[in-house]
Amino acid sequence: MKIVITGGAGFIGSNLALCLQEKHEILVIDKMRGQSYLDNGNLECLGHFKNLLNYKGRLFIGDINDKETFKKISDFKPNIIFHQAAISDTTAYNQNQVLSTNLNSFEEFIKLSIKLNAKLIYASSASVYGNLPSPQQVGKENPKNPYAFSKLMMDNMAKKYYKKAHIVGLRYFNVYGNGEYFKGKTASMILQLGLQLLKGDNPKLFKGSDKIFRDFVYIKDVVSANLKALEAECGVYNVGSGKARSFQDVLDILQKELNTNLTCEYIKNPYINAYQFHTQAQLDKSFAYESEFSLEEGIKDYLDEIKRIYEEELKNA
Ligand SMILES: NC(=O)c1ccc[n+]([C@@H]2O[C@H](COP(=O)([O-])OP(=O)(O)OC[C@H]3O[C@@H](n4cnc5c(N)ncnc54)[C@H](O)[C@@H]3O)[C@@H](O)[C@H]2O)c1
Repeated sequence: MKIVITGGAGFIGSNLALCLQEKHEILVIDKMRGQSYLDNGNLECLGHFKNLLNYKGRLFIGDINDKETFKKISDFKPNIIFHQAAISDTTAYNQNQVLSTNLNSFEEFIKLSIKLNAKLIYASSASVYGNLPSPQQVGKENPKNPYAFSKLMMDNMAKKYYKKAHIVGLRYFNVYGNGEYFKGKTASMILQLGLQLLKGDNPKLFKGSDKIFRDFVYIKDVVSANLKALEAECGVYNVGSGKARSFQDVLDILQKELNTNLTCEYIKNPYINAYQFHTQAQLDKSFAYESEFSLEEGIKDYLDEIKRIYEEELKNA
């Protein structure tokens, strides 16, 4: 198969590229990190070459807003497009920038998929649910920021084309695992707490973290979900573990695995008025995806990489 992966130098895209490269011909598209910043001071693009150090396929540095990028994809003639590229920062508030990047380009991807008869699997997001009560289910959304709104608009747009192409949207919940380090501040709390413990710092959590729940999903499950989506009916599906676990659970598991007993500092939550306190995916039985990793198993599997990041990236930074 010929497969295009947009955002392939980012966290989820690079995992897809590394997993699929042995058996398929891959073209990764990514704008890569540069000197452009979002209105919140974070980098606009988080793609990093180190995520692709073991990648042997093709790489094209391009913007999904540019015609040249679509020409490159069209010439490659993929059978499948995994579309991960996006402004992935939920705290970016420049509506024009977030929506034009995430949404406008998406219709071009749909049209190209129809033209090439390629399957299109794209990243939506659990952020579309805002603070709706758990379990969150497709069909009830309440986006609270431009990023979440852009993903909901993508889902709505995709629906109009289900009869013309194989299009599947995946609403990832809180993904963690190898390849997320270069997301910096937007990397998962699993990595951030793990690194705090390895440094010997007192870990920091918001007050009441034993009552703040997230559906954490391990990257290997997310890659499996993308592969299942190739055989699924057109639609939008939740991709989580189906379980809600607290941030306190995350810290307790990490302390146990790293054999530490550092005192946690509980700090004031500055986002308290616009905060998700409980997320949990309602998994759709018609989508043959099942999460294989519990939080304990995912963290155990990830631990060597967290230690490697601490030794090789953080100590030398
Ligand atoms: N990681 C999560 O927990 C999570 C949760 C829900 C949804 N998602 C979605 O999954 C997808 C992948 O997320 P991720 O965590 O790997 O994020 P990421 O930021 O690591 O990856 C996104 C990639 O897209 C690239 N990119 C950004 N703008 C681009 C542009 N204009 N042209 C070309 N490339 C561009 C970036 O350089 C980056 O490599 C995104 O669409 C994100 O919104 C992620």
